Amino acid sequence: MAPNLKTIMLLALVCATLRISTAGDADILTDFIVPANLQGPLDGNFFTYTGMRALVGKPFPTTFKVSKASMAEFPALNGQSVSYAVLQFPNGTVNPPHTHPRASELLFVLSGSLEVGFVDTTNKLFAQTLQEGDIFVFPKGLVHFQFNNDAKNPVVALSAFGSANAGTVSVPNSVFNSTIDNDILALSFKTDVATIQKIKAGLSG
Ligand SMILES: *[C@@H]1O[C@H](CO)[C@@H](O)[C@H](O)[C@H]1NC(C)=O
Ligand SMILES: *[C@@H]1O[C@H](CO)[C@@H](O)[C@H](O)[C@H]1NC(C)=O
Repeated sequence: MAPNLKTIMLLALVCATLRISTAGDADILTDFIVPANLQGPLDGNFFTYTGMRALVGKPFPTTFKVSKASMAEFPALNGQSVSYAVLQFPNGTVNPPHTHPRASELLFVLSGSLEVGFVDTTNKLFAQTLQEGDIFVFPKGLVHFQFNNDAKNPVVALSAFGSANAGTVSVPNSVFNSTIDNDILALSFKTDVATIQKIKAGLSG
């Protein structure tokens, strides 16, 4: 029996649904992945990341600081499609516009009040002022930022990612702190090379 149009459409729909359900890190075929060079026995310690203890009871940083628990810092995350970052914003500091190519981000404000926003593919800005206890989602791959607009108080936030290695593409750095030719940037931003050089100088320091 030749497949009719309905069958083909149904198959296409099933395939599309499968694609959506696997639109994250690839699934692994084992419970977890143990690195070949594991030091010591495979026990609870392998599944424990203690790197964030370094933040406890320490003075607040004087510039914006990200402390990651991704696959690089915490190898047990390999294949688990999750990771964390602790974000510390002294008063008046910004996490400049950036994207995470492999994950959406779920940000939880633990203390302080944080301005956040992302821009969708039609260049529409979705902004919010978050209070302590609020949770905001940055959709996968979209440009977003966070800003502590408070003149006095710091902000601490915890971000969860739907990838063990979300990756970060900084907009200022990828555009103005890489080696893209100045002429190309001047044409792209409809300005002159001197202006491009001025922006680059501010980032290269
Ligand atoms: C941050 O707070 C300190 C101390 O209150 C103040 O001197 C400084 O101007 C503030 N910085 C910004 C960018 O608001
Ligand atoms: C620009 O790139 C240099 C070299 O990779 C790096 O050291 C510097 O921190 C970058 N600038 C910013 C603002 O991140």
